[in-house]
Amino acid sequence: MIERVRVAVVGVGNNTSALVQGLALYRQSGSLVGIRRPIIDGLGVGDIDIVAAFATSKEKIGRDLTEAIFLAPNNFPRLNCDLPRAGVPVTKGLVDASEVQRVAAALAGAEVLLYSAPSGRPETARAYAAAAHKAGVAFINTTADPVARDPQLMDSFEAAGLPLLGDDLASQFGTSVLHNALLRLLEERGLTLVSSYQVNLGGTEDFRNLVENPDTKKRSKLNALSADDKVQVAPLGYLSQLKSQKVAHLNLEAQGWGETSVSLDVKLKVHDPSGAAGVNIDLIRIAASALRNGRGGHSAEATSLLKSPPGTAI
Ligand SMILES: NC(=O)c1ccc[n+]([C@@H]2O[C@H](COP(=O)([O-])OP(=O)(O)OC[C@H]3O[C@@H](n4cnc5c(N)ncnc54)[C@H](O)[C@@H]3O)[C@@H](O)[C@H]2O)c1
Repeated sequence: MIERVRVAVVGVGNNTSALVQGLALYRQSGSLVGIRRPIIDGLGVGDIDIVAAFATSKEKIGRDLTEAIFLAPNNFPRLNCDLPRAGVPVTKGLVDASEVQRVAAALAGAEVLLYSAPSGRPETARAYAAAAHKAGVAFINTTADPVARDPQLMDSFEAAGLPLLGDDLASQFGTSVLHNALLRLLEERGLTLVSSYQVNLGGTEDFRNLVENPDTKKRSKLNALSADDKVQVAPLGYLSQLKSQKVAHLNLEAQGWGETSVSLDVKLKVHDPSGAAGVNIDLIRIAASALRNGRGGHSAEATSLLKSPPGTAI
């Protein structure tokens, strides 16, 4: 019989809402719509249990996880499924290294810590990574802050036999994967890129935060594109009316046969937190499997799911 994966989450925001609701939906319906890999090393989507959750907002702390995910400013919609109480009260998180021990103790029984707090707070990310390390738990950094691409941290997780996956998830069908695919296609077909840009607009709290703290995210988005300075990423834009949807515009200008012009414009509209959950579900199972098999550090299987894996620029 499969031993279910016990996951703790940091941040009870939109991505956690999409993950918690999605787990309930897939368990009830048995559907495979939107699932990239139904089984990873014997682990199905329904084999994941969230056993602890950390937040900083007073309104969420103490509430059952299944209630806390619907509190403002979260705006990911309710999915079409029943959501039984999780029996997991949201715990007070940490904001600096002084509380690493308390959080490590609260991780008892968990195998994986999914770090899903706002990007742009590297000290907080490192403090949670330290708590995971102390507790003997695998750590996944979904934010743009450098953790897994810090060679020292990677060494310490590797030495302890603990998986460390990050940094910054690449959404399941987001701007980075689409942009990369189109750039690759141009090259494969022998066209010459002249210039390209991407514009991202969104209405989530994540977007609002990234407009105010753009630095680590911009670096990470460029890491994901592995492209030269012909490709530009416009500053992110926050539009509350978009709610949990992201709208992205991609433009590619190229030259084909006889140096004639080729121009491509694409508009993508997706629920951003779904794009995160669709990847987190794979990262969690990759991390759990690596932990159970004593494989510490990075897993090559995770590389294509990340914008800034180890070895990319900080
Ligand atoms: N497609 C995507 O949505 C996507 C893609 C790549 C990366 N990410 C990253 O994933 C992360 C989560 O995204 P989100 O949309 O859920 O963000 P969010 O802002 O909705 O949720 C983050 C939550 O963390 C809480 N928080 C803040 N500080 C905390 C702390 N010290 N301890 C515990 N909780 C804390 C916030 O109050 C908030 O509820 C962000 O860093 C985002 O940049 C998202």
